[in-house]
Amino acid sequence: MAVKKEMVNDYVAVVNESGLNPLIMDVDAFAVQNMYEVNYELERGKVITLVNIGASVININIVRNGNSVFTRDMSIGGNHYTEELQKQLGVSFDEAEQIKLGKVETAQNIQPLLDSISGSIALEIQRSLDFFTATSSYGHISKVYLCGGACKTPGMLKIIENQISIPVEIINAFNNIEIPTKTFDMQYIEQVAPMCGVVVGLALRRLGDK
Ligand SMILES: Nc1ncnc2c1ncn2[C@@H]1O[C@H](COP(=O)(O)OP(=O)(O)OP(=O)(O)O)[C@@H](O)[C@H]1O
Ligand SMILES: [Mg+2]
Repeated sequence: MAVKKEMVNDYVAVVNESGLNPLIMDVDAFAVQNMYEVNYELERGKVITLVNIGASVININIVRNGNSVFTRDMSIGGNHYTEELQKQLGVSFDEAEQIKLGKVETAQNIQPLLDSISGSIALEIQRSLDFFTATSSYGHISKVYLCGGACKTPGMLKIIENQISIPVEIINAFNNIEIPTKTFDMQYIEQVAPMCGVVVGLALRRLGDK
């Protein structure tokens, strides 16, 4: 994937200012792909899609035989839910975020609003997948894997699945990774596993690989 040089330079400058020297830089979508490869069996000949739903960006990466064959970024994500809740409930962004995460109670039923945003995200994802299917000769997509914090939005998985008519699964970024159960709270690990796609992918990189 080509990356704008100025963008890379900006990141390097920030890291240098903090007294560190970056050795490896990676792109979200490819970090997720590396994470996927250590955690799931390669399904030869099958086309799968990795969707990373963050706070402000969604990365879509379509993969076949371990190769990325299509990528697209969309400027929508978890913040959109929070901003809509903020407007509808007349609260601050932080309050809206707490309500969204179920940490603060509200008398209002927020599920319809969440569902309507999930619906627009599902439609956007479908457009990308349809574009890929129409313009490539790789055949149909057999499965979609979701990761990123916002993929935990209640109801989202089913809404996407119904929209695209392809099986959808939430990724476990630690599926094949041995975790010392004495040191770590496994309930917590399970809770954060879907949102650790990028960090696990980055942690797999070593100087001099590929
Ligand atoms: N349990 C949850 N339910 C709904 N949304 C959640 C949940 N947990 C986290 N999120 C949302 O996930 C988003 C953060 O996800 P993630 O950490 O993947 O994003 P990011 O990498 O920081 O953002 P980006 O990739 O867009 O720069 C936030 O919008 C947050 O509100
Ligand atoms: Mg992200």
